[in-house]
Amino acid sequence: MKRAIVTGGAGLIGSEICRRLLAEGWQVASFDVHKGQGDAVDIQCDIGSEAAVDASFSQLGWDRVDLLVNNGGRTPSITMELAQSTLKDWNETIGSYLTATFLMSRRALPLMAEGASIVNMASTRAFMSEGGDFMYAAAKGGIVSITHALAIALGPKVRVNAIAPGWISGATELRAVDHSQHPAGRVGRPEDISEAVLYLEGARFVTGQVLIIDGGMTRKMMYAE
Ligand SMILES: NC(=O)c1ccc[n+]([C@@H]2O[C@H](COP(=O)([O-])OP(=O)(O)OC[C@H]3O[C@@H](n4cnc5c(N)ncnc54)[C@H](O)[C@@H]3O)[C@@H](O)[C@H]2O)c1
Repeated sequence: MKRAIVTGGAGLIGSEICRRLLAEGWQVASFDVHKGQGDAVDIQCDIGSEAAVDASFSQLGWDRVDLLVNNGGRTPSITMELAQSTLKDWNETIGSYLTATFLMSRRALPLMAEGASIVNMASTRAFMSEGGDFMYAAAKGGIVSITHALAIALGPKVRVNAIAPGWISGATELRAVDHSQHPAGRVGRPEDISEAVLYLEGARFVTGQVLIIDGGMTRKMMYAE
């Protein structure tokens, strides 16, 4: 049975990735500060802490990992003013996303055999901004970069790719315009991302890539009329 670790497995997208991998017959562990739901092995861990990551891998006790999905992290307010922003928010954002991607990948690597892979969760905000999202954009830009760097460092044994989601929602009460503004005709769903994780896990000739899953929003000209 193939084994996957998913960080942020208690959240919206992470819980769907866990569910889908379990449905495909994988053994799955969720590393999250919060308790997850479902049948994944639940490891409560602050993924931005070196000591917690080491202790969590020991607690899990696996001798093999086939897939690591670096998905978890804490998103700060994306309407933040630079002048009022705090170093605490910056450190939490970079720590829980970018440092965690480094710590988790470093710890998983010795457990990975030929053919294993890493999927990092970036964001379309690594490429486009609304202004108040500068901390998040910086963390996600770092994730795009560590993806291509590790793809070169770890190939051909381990492939490393990223997904850059656009707006992904589990909510049912969205406005018609929320959907219709997307070239694909709707807001994204967590299943759109779990599908991409499975694709990248199996795509043996794909490494160092960022798969943008945003319903076409970053391909749309948005100048005022
Ligand atoms: N939902 C979207 O529209 C969207 C868009 C682009 C990118 N993303 C990315 O997708 C991923 C998942 O997003 P989501 O919408 O499911 O968010 P979410 O907030 O529902 O889930 C994130 C999970 O990470 C966990 N987490 C936070 N800090 C942690 C830490 N230090 N240690 C361990 N766990 C920690 C949280 O407890 C939570 O369960 C994130 O990387 C996010 O940036 C989401």
